[in-house]
Amino acid sequence: MSMRQIFAEQYVKLPVLVNSTTCLGKTYIVTGSNNGLGLETARHLVGASASCVVLAVRNLAAGEKAKADIECTTRKMGVVQVWHLDLSSSESVKRFAAKAEAELVRIDGLIENAGVMLDTWTLAEGGMEMSMTVNVINTMFLGMLMLPKMMARAKTFAIQPRIVFLVSGLAFQNTARRELEKVGKVDVLGGLNNQKKQAMNARYALTKLVETYAVRAFAAAYPFEKTQIVINMVSPGICTTRLARDTSIVMRAAQGVIRTAVARTAEQGSRTILHALLADETTQGKHLSGCKVKEDWIQPWMTNADGQKMQKQIWKELVALTEWAQPGFGTKLS
Ligand SMILES: NC(=O)c1ccc[n+]([C@@H]2O[C@H](COP(=O)([O-])OP(=O)(O)OC[C@H]3O[C@@H](n4cnc5c(N)ncnc54)[C@H](OP(=O)(O)O)[C@@H]3O)[C@@H](O)[C@H]2O)c1
Repeated sequence: MSMRQIFAEQYVKLPVLVNSTTCLGKTYIVTGSNNGLGLETARHLVGASASCVVLAVRNLAAGEKAKADIECTTRKMGVVQVWHLDLSSSESVKRFAAKAEAELVRIDGLIENAGVMLDTWTLAEGGMEMSMTVNVINTMFLGMLMLPKMMARAKTFAIQPRIVFLVSGLAFQNTARRELEKVGKVDVLGGLNNQKKQAMNARYALTKLVETYAVRAFAAAYPFEKTQIVINMVSPGICTTRLARDTSIVMRAAQGVIRTAVARTAEQGSRTILHALLADETTQGKHLSGCKVKEDWIQPWMTNADGQKMQKQIWKELVALTEWAQPGFGTKLS
Protein backbone atom coordinates (compact mmCIF):
# COMPACT_ATOMS: atom_id res chain seq x y z
CA MET A 1 0.00 0.00 0.00
CA SER A 2 1.93 3.02 -1.22
CA MET A 3 1.13 6.67 -0.59
CA ARG A 4 0.56 6.90 -4.35
CA GLN A 5 -2.25 4.37 -4.07
CA ILE A 6 -3.75 6.28 -1.13
CA PHE A 7 -3.66 9.52 -3.14
CA ALA A 8 -5.17 7.83 -6.22
CA GLU A 9 -8.10 6.70 -4.05
CA GLN A 10 -8.89 10.30 -3.22
CA TYR A 11 -10.40 10.99 -6.62
CA VAL A 12 -12.90 8.13 -6.57
CA LYS A 13 -16.51 9.38 -6.53
CA LEU A 14 -18.34 8.05 -3.49
CA PRO A 15 -22.04 7.26 -3.24
CA VAL A 16 -24.27 8.17 -0.27
CA LEU A 17 -25.71 4.77 0.57
CA VAL A 18 -28.04 5.57 3.48
CA ASN A 19 -31.67 6.54 3.02
CA SER A 20 -34.99 6.02 4.78
CA THR A 21 -35.11 2.40 3.60
CA THR A 22 -31.81 1.58 5.28
CA CYS A 23 -32.18 3.67 8.47
CA LEU A 24 -35.87 4.23 9.29
CA GLY A 25 -36.55 3.63 13.00
CA LYS A 26 -32.95 2.66 13.77
CA THR A 27 -30.64 3.74 16.59
CA TYR A 28 -26.98 4.64 16.11
CA ILE A 29 -24.13 5.78 18.32
CA VAL A 30 -21.33 7.87 16.76
CA THR A 31 -18.31 8.65 18.93
CA GLY A 32 -16.46 11.94 18.41
CA SER A 33 -19.40 13.36 16.48
CA ASN A 34 -19.26 17.02 17.45
CA ASN A 35 -17.17 17.77 14.35
CA GLY A 36 -15.36 16.27 11.36
CA LEU A 37 -16.28 12.87 9.97
CA GLY A 38 -18.39 11.92 12.99
CA LEU A 39 -20.60 14.98 12.68
CA GLU A 40 -21.19 14.40 8.96
CA THR A 41 -21.93 10.71 9.55
CA ALA A 42 -24.46 11.60 12.25
CA ARG A 43 -26.03 14.23 9.98
CA HIS A 44 -26.52 11.65 7.21
CA LEU A 45 -28.09 9.16 9.63
CA VAL A 46 -30.56 11.75 10.93
CA GLY A 47 -31.37 12.81 7.36
CA ALA A 48 -31.95 9.13 6.50
CA SER A 49 -34.76 8.86 9.10
CA ALA A 50 -32.94 7.13 11.97
CA SER A 51 -35.10 7.40 15.08
CA CYS A 52 -32.19 8.02 17.48
CA VAL A 53 -28.60 9.15 16.89
CA VAL A 54 -26.42 9.48 19.99
CA LEU A 55 -23.55 11.94 19.69
CA ALA A 56 -20.95 10.50 22.09
CA VAL A 57 -18.68 13.45 22.86
CA ARG A 58 -16.16 14.54 25.45
CA ASN A 59 -17.32 18.16 25.33
CA LEU A 60 -21.08 18.42 25.94
CA ALA A 61 -21.29 22.06 24.87
CA ALA A 62 -19.67 21.18 21.52
CA GLY A 63 -22.08 18.24 21.27
CA GLU A 64 -25.09 20.52 21.82
CA LYS A 65 -23.78 22.87 19.15
CA ALA A 66 -23.45 19.92 16.73
CA LYS A 67 -26.97 18.79 17.61
CA ALA A 68 -28.35 22.27 16.82
CA ASP A 69 -26.43 22.27 13.53
CA ILE A 70 -27.79 18.84 12.53
CA GLU A 71 -31.34 19.84 13.48
CA CYS A 72 -31.03 23.05 11.49
CA THR A 73 -29.76 21.32 8.32
CA THR A 74 -32.00 18.23 8.43
CA ARG A 75 -35.05 19.91 10.00
CA LYS A 76 -35.49 16.76 12.10
CA MET A 77 -36.03 17.36 15.79
CA GLY A 78 -36.03 14.85 18.64
CA VAL A 79 -33.63 12.41 16.99
CA VAL A 80 -30.21 13.53 18.25
CA GLN A 81 -29.12 12.93 21.83
CA VAL A 82 -25.85 14.23 23.26
CA TRP A 83 -24.09 11.93 25.73
CA HIS A 84 -20.76 12.32 27.48
CA LEU A 85 -17.90 10.00 26.54
CA ASP A 86 -14.24 10.71 27.22
CA LEU A 87 -12.06 8.00 25.75
CA SER A 88 -9.09 9.06 27.84
CA SER A 89 -10.90 7.58 30.86
CA SER A 90 -11.98 3.96 31.30
CA GLU A 91 -14.48 5.10 33.96
CA SER A 92 -16.14 7.36 31.40
CA VAL A 93 -16.34 4.43 28.96
CA LYS A 94 -17.98 2.29 31.65
CA ARG A 95 -20.51 5.01 32.50
CA PHE A 96 -21.33 5.42 28.82
CA ALA A 97 -21.84 1.69 28.27
CA ALA A 98 -24.06 1.46 31.38
CA LYS A 99 -26.19 4.37 30.14
CA ALA A 100 -26.54 2.71 26.74
CA GLU A 101 -27.64 -0.50 28.45
CA ALA A 102 -30.20 1.35 30.56
CA GLU A 103 -31.59 3.78 28.01
CA LEU A 104 -31.27 2.47 24.46
CA VAL A 105 -34.04 0.10 23.48
CA ARG A 106 -32.17 -1.03 20.38
CA ILE A 107 -28.71 -0.37 18.94
CA ASP A 108 -28.28 -0.83 15.21
CA GLY A 109 -24.80 0.60 14.88
CA LEU A 110 -21.87 1.76 16.97
CA ILE A 111 -19.45 3.90 14.97
CA GLU A 112 -16.13 4.14 16.81
CA ASN A 113 -14.99 7.30 15.09
CA ALA A 114 -13.37 9.39 17.85
CA GLY A 115 -9.62 9.71 17.58
CA VAL A 116 -6.69 12.02 18.16
CA MET A 117 -3.45 12.86 16.38
CA LEU A 118 -0.78 13.99 18.84
CA ASP A 119 2.94 14.50 18.43
CA THR A 120 3.78 15.35 22.02
CA TRP A 121 3.86 12.75 24.76
CA THR A 122 1.02 13.24 27.24
CA LEU A 123 -0.41 10.75 29.65
CA ALA A 124 -4.03 9.72 30.05
CA GLU A 125 -5.60 8.40 33.24
CA GLY A 126 -3.92 5.11 34.09
CA GLY A 127 -0.47 6.31 32.98
CA MET A 128 -0.67 5.24 29.33
CA GLU A 129 0.20 7.68 26.54
CA MET A 130 -2.85 9.65 25.45
CA SER A 131 -3.23 8.78 21.75
CA MET A 132 -2.69 5.05 22.38
CA THR A 133 -5.32 5.26 25.15
CA VAL A 134 -7.91 7.10 23.05
CA ASN A 135 -7.34 5.51 19.64
CA VAL A 136 -6.77 1.94 20.80
CA ILE A 137 -7.23 0.96 24.44
CA ASN A 138 -10.49 2.68 25.32
CA THR A 139 -11.84 2.44 21.79
CA MET A 140 -11.51 -1.35 22.03
CA PHE A 141 -12.75 -1.28 25.64
CA LEU A 142 -15.94 0.46 24.48
CA GLY A 143 -16.41 -2.12 21.72
CA MET A 144 -15.93 -4.99 24.15
CA LEU A 145 -18.34 -3.52 26.72
CA MET A 146 -20.99 -2.77 24.11
CA LEU A 147 -20.82 -6.16 22.39
CA PRO A 148 -22.93 -8.16 24.90
CA LYS A 149 -25.54 -5.38 25.03
CA MET A 150 -25.69 -5.25 21.25
CA MET A 151 -25.92 -9.05 21.07
CA ALA A 152 -28.91 -9.01 23.42
CA ARG A 153 -30.65 -6.30 21.37
CA ALA A 154 -29.83 -8.17 18.16
CA LYS A 155 -31.66 -11.20 19.52
CA THR A 156 -34.68 -9.23 20.76
CA PHE A 157 -35.19 -7.35 17.51
CA ALA A 158 -33.83 -9.99 15.12
CA ILE A 159 -31.39 -7.44 13.71
CA GLN A 160 -27.73 -7.55 12.69
CA PRO A 161 -26.06 -4.50 14.23
CA ARG A 162 -22.66 -3.18 13.18
CA ILE A 163 -19.59 -2.02 15.03
CA VAL A 164 -17.43 0.11 12.72
CA PHE A 165 -13.92 1.26 13.66
CA LEU A 166 -12.10 4.18 12.02
CA VAL A 167 -8.57 3.28 10.99
CA SER A 168 -6.19 4.88 8.47
CA GLY A 169 -4.12 4.07 5.40
CA LEU A 170 -1.12 5.33 7.38
CA ALA A 171 -1.31 2.16 9.48
CA PHE A 172 -0.03 0.13 6.54
CA GLN A 173 3.08 2.21 5.91
CA ASN A 174 6.57 1.08 6.90
CA THR A 175 6.88 3.99 9.35
CA ALA A 176 4.21 2.45 11.57
CA ARG A 177 5.64 -1.04 11.09
CA ARG A 178 9.12 0.10 12.17
CA GLU A 179 7.72 1.75 15.30
CA LEU A 180 5.93 -1.45 16.26
CA GLU A 181 9.07 -3.51 15.63
CA LYS A 182 10.87 -1.45 18.28
CA VAL A 183 8.50 -2.93 20.84
CA GLY A 184 9.11 -6.41 22.21
CA LYS A 185 6.90 -9.39 21.45
CA VAL A 186 5.70 -9.69 25.03
CA ASP A 187 4.21 -6.76 26.94
CA VAL A 188 3.52 -4.91 23.70
CA LEU A 189 1.39 -2.25 25.40
CA GLY A 190 4.12 -1.71 27.99
CA GLY A 191 6.67 -1.34 25.18
CA LEU A 192 4.41 1.14 23.40
CA ASN A 193 4.43 3.20 26.56
CA ASN A 194 8.21 3.58 26.61
CA GLN A 195 8.60 7.25 25.75
CA LYS A 196 12.33 6.93 25.04
CA LYS A 197 11.77 4.38 22.27
CA GLN A 198 8.85 5.96 20.45
CA ALA A 199 8.99 8.60 17.69
CA MET A 200 6.04 10.91 18.15
CA ASN A 201 5.92 11.95 14.49
CA ALA A 202 4.90 8.37 13.70
CA ARG A 203 2.70 7.90 16.74
CA TYR A 204 -0.67 8.45 15.08
CA ALA A 205 0.11 5.91 12.33
CA LEU A 206 1.30 3.47 14.99
CA THR A 207 -1.93 3.81 16.98
CA LYS A 208 -3.91 3.05 13.83
CA LEU A 209 -1.75 0.00 13.10
CA VAL A 210 -2.28 -1.36 16.61
CA GLU A 211 -6.01 -0.60 16.30
CA THR A 212 -6.15 -2.50 13.00
CA TYR A 213 -4.57 -5.57 14.60
CA ALA A 214 -6.99 -5.26 17.52
CA VAL A 215 -10.09 -4.99 15.33
CA ARG A 216 -9.03 -8.02 13.28
CA ALA A 217 -8.58 -10.00 16.48
CA PHE A 218 -11.86 -8.74 17.99
CA ALA A 219 -13.81 -9.75 14.88
CA ALA A 220 -12.11 -13.16 14.82
CA ALA A 221 -12.83 -13.76 18.52
CA TYR A 222 -16.51 -12.89 18.09
CA PRO A 223 -17.55 -14.16 14.67
CA PHE A 224 -20.81 -13.01 13.15
CA GLU A 225 -22.31 -16.51 13.35
CA LYS A 226 -22.00 -16.37 17.14
CA THR A 227 -22.96 -12.74 17.75
CA GLN A 228 -25.09 -11.57 14.81
CA ILE A 229 -22.92 -8.43 14.96
CA VAL A 230 -20.80 -7.32 12.00
CA ILE A 231 -17.46 -5.87 13.11
CA ASN A 232 -15.43 -4.11 10.43
CA MET A 233 -13.09 -1.14 9.95
CA VAL A 234 -12.80 1.70 7.48
CA SER A 235 -10.10 4.09 6.29
CA PRO A 236 -11.98 7.25 5.26
CA GLY A 237 -9.15 8.61 3.10
CA ILE A 238 -7.49 11.97 3.57
CA CYS A 239 -10.20 14.39 4.67
CA THR A 240 -10.25 18.03 5.63
CA THR A 241 -10.99 18.01 9.35
CA ARG A 242 -9.33 19.44 12.45
CA LEU A 243 -7.65 16.12 13.31
CA ALA A 244 -4.11 17.58 13.32
CA ARG A 245 -5.01 20.63 15.41
CA ASP A 246 -2.98 19.56 18.45
CA THR A 247 0.22 18.78 16.54
CA SER A 248 3.27 21.01 16.00
CA ILE A 249 3.21 23.79 13.44
CA VAL A 250 5.56 21.76 11.20
CA MET A 251 3.24 18.75 11.24
CA ARG A 252 0.19 20.95 10.63
CA ALA A 253 1.91 22.68 7.73
CA ALA A 254 2.83 19.32 6.13
CA GLN A 255 -0.71 18.03 6.66
CA GLY A 256 -2.10 21.28 5.27
CA VAL A 257 -0.16 20.90 2.02
CA ILE A 258 -1.32 17.31 1.52
CA ARG A 259 -4.91 18.16 2.38
CA THR A 260 -5.03 21.17 0.08
CA ALA A 261 -3.81 18.97 -2.77
CA VAL A 262 -5.98 15.88 -2.39
CA ALA A 263 -8.37 15.97 0.56
CA ARG A 264 -12.00 14.96 0.56
CA THR A 265 -14.42 17.06 2.55
CA ALA A 266 -15.57 15.59 5.86
CA GLU A 267 -18.95 14.95 4.24
CA GLN A 268 -17.35 12.96 1.40
CA GLY A 269 -15.26 11.00 3.91
CA SER A 270 -18.36 10.19 5.94
CA ARG A 271 -19.76 8.30 2.94
CA THR A 272 -17.09 5.63 3.45
CA ILE A 273 -18.23 5.22 7.05
CA LEU A 274 -21.86 4.85 5.97
CA HIS A 275 -20.76 2.17 3.51
CA ALA A 276 -19.06 0.25 6.32
CA LEU A 277 -22.19 0.64 8.46
CA LEU A 278 -24.37 -0.97 5.80
CA ALA A 279 -21.85 -3.60 4.73
CA ASP A 280 -22.97 -7.17 5.40
CA GLU A 281 -21.45 -10.05 7.34
CA THR A 282 -19.00 -10.87 4.57
CA THR A 283 -17.04 -7.80 5.79
CA GLN A 284 -16.50 -9.27 9.26
CA GLY A 285 -13.00 -8.27 10.39
CA LYS A 286 -12.26 -6.69 7.04
CA HIS A 287 -10.76 -3.38 6.03
CA LEU A 288 -12.87 -1.08 3.85
CA SER A 289 -12.10 2.15 2.05
CA GLY A 290 -13.61 4.20 -0.77
CA CYS A 291 -16.92 2.31 -0.29
CA LYS A 292 -15.26 -1.01 -1.16
CA VAL A 293 -13.61 -3.87 0.69
CA LYS A 294 -9.86 -3.19 0.61
CA GLU A 295 -8.30 -6.22 2.21
CA ASP A 296 -5.29 -5.82 -0.10
CA TRP A 297 -4.27 -2.86 2.08
CA ILE A 298 -3.55 -5.34 4.89
CA GLN A 299 0.16 -6.01 4.43
CA PRO A 300 1.76 -9.50 4.24
CA TRP A 301 3.90 -8.60 7.28
CA MET A 302 0.67 -8.23 9.25
CA THR A 303 -0.65 -11.66 8.33
CA ASN A 304 2.50 -13.80 8.25
CA ALA A 305 3.48 -15.89 11.29
CA ASP A 306 5.09 -12.93 13.08
CA GLY A 307 2.15 -10.67 12.25
CA GLN A 308 -0.30 -13.23 13.59
CA LYS A 309 1.70 -13.57 16.79
CA MET A 310 1.69 -9.79 17.20
CA GLN A 311 -2.07 -9.66 16.63
CA LYS A 312 -2.68 -12.41 19.23
CA GLN A 313 -0.44 -10.71 21.76
CA ILE A 314 -2.06 -7.30 21.33
CA TRP A 315 -5.48 -8.88 21.72
CA LYS A 316 -4.46 -10.89 24.78
CA GLU A 317 -3.17 -7.74 26.47
CA LEU A 318 -6.28 -5.71 25.59
CA VAL A 319 -8.57 -8.42 26.94
CA ALA A 320 -6.52 -8.55 30.15
CA LEU A 321 -6.83 -4.77 30.52
CA THR A 322 -10.57 -4.96 29.95
CA GLU A 323 -10.92 -7.77 32.49
CA TRP A 324 -8.97 -5.62 34.95
CA ALA A 325 -11.13 -2.54 34.30
CA GLN A 326 -14.40 -4.50 34.26
CA PRO A 327 -14.00 -7.74 36.23
CA GLY A 328 -16.21 -10.53 34.89
CA PHE A 329 -16.53 -9.04 31.40
CA GLY A 330 -15.13 -12.23 29.83
CA THR A 331 -17.91 -14.40 31.29
CA LYS A 332 -20.55 -12.02 29.88
CA LEU A 333 -19.22 -12.68 26.42
CA SER A 334 -18.72 -16.40 26.59
N1 LIG B 1 -9.30 13.27 8.61
C1 LIG B 1 -8.61 12.31 8.04
O1 LIG B 1 -7.93 12.55 7.01
C2 LIG B 1 -8.62 10.91 8.59
C3 LIG B 1 -7.94 9.92 7.86
C4 LIG B 1 -7.94 8.62 8.36
C5 LIG B 1 -8.60 8.33 9.53
N2 LIG B 1 -9.24 9.33 10.23
C6 LIG B 1 -9.90 8.96 11.49
O2 LIG B 1 -11.23 9.43 11.46
C7 LIG B 1 -11.69 9.65 12.79
C8 LIG B 1 -12.37 11.01 12.88
O3 LIG B 1 -11.39 12.01 12.73
P1 LIG B 1 -11.64 13.43 12.05
O4 LIG B 1 -10.73 13.52 10.92
O5 LIG B 1 -13.08 13.67 11.85
O6 LIG B 1 -11.03 14.40 13.18
P2 LIG B 1 -11.71 15.41 14.16
O7 LIG B 1 -12.56 16.37 13.41
O8 LIG B 1 -10.62 15.93 15.01
O9 LIG B 1 -12.68 14.48 15.01
C9 LIG B 1 -12.21 13.66 16.03
C10 LIG B 1 -13.29 13.53 17.07
O10 LIG B 1 -12.79 12.70 18.12
C11 LIG B 1 -13.07 13.34 19.34
N3 LIG B 1 -12.18 12.95 20.42
C12 LIG B 1 -10.85 13.19 20.54
N4 LIG B 1 -10.40 12.75 21.72
C13 LIG B 1 -11.48 12.22 22.37
C14 LIG B 1 -11.66 11.65 23.63
N5 LIG B 1 -10.67 11.54 24.51
N6 LIG B 1 -12.89 11.21 23.97
C15 LIG B 1 -13.92 11.34 23.11
N7 LIG B 1 -13.81 11.91 21.91
C16 LIG B 1 -12.61 12.35 21.54
C17 LIG B 1 -12.93 14.83 19.03
O11 LIG B 1 -13.53 15.60 20.06
P3 LIG B 1 -13.08 17.14 20.34
O12 LIG B 1 -13.72 17.96 19.28
O13 LIG B 1 -13.61 17.40 21.71
O14 LIG B 1 -11.58 17.17 20.27
C18 LIG B 1 -13.66 14.89 17.70
O15 LIG B 1 -15.03 14.93 17.91
C19 LIG B 1 -10.47 9.49 13.70
O16 LIG B 1 -10.48 8.21 14.29
C20 LIG B 1 -9.32 9.61 12.73
O17 LIG B 1 -8.18 8.93 13.18
C21 LIG B 1 -9.26 10.60 9.78
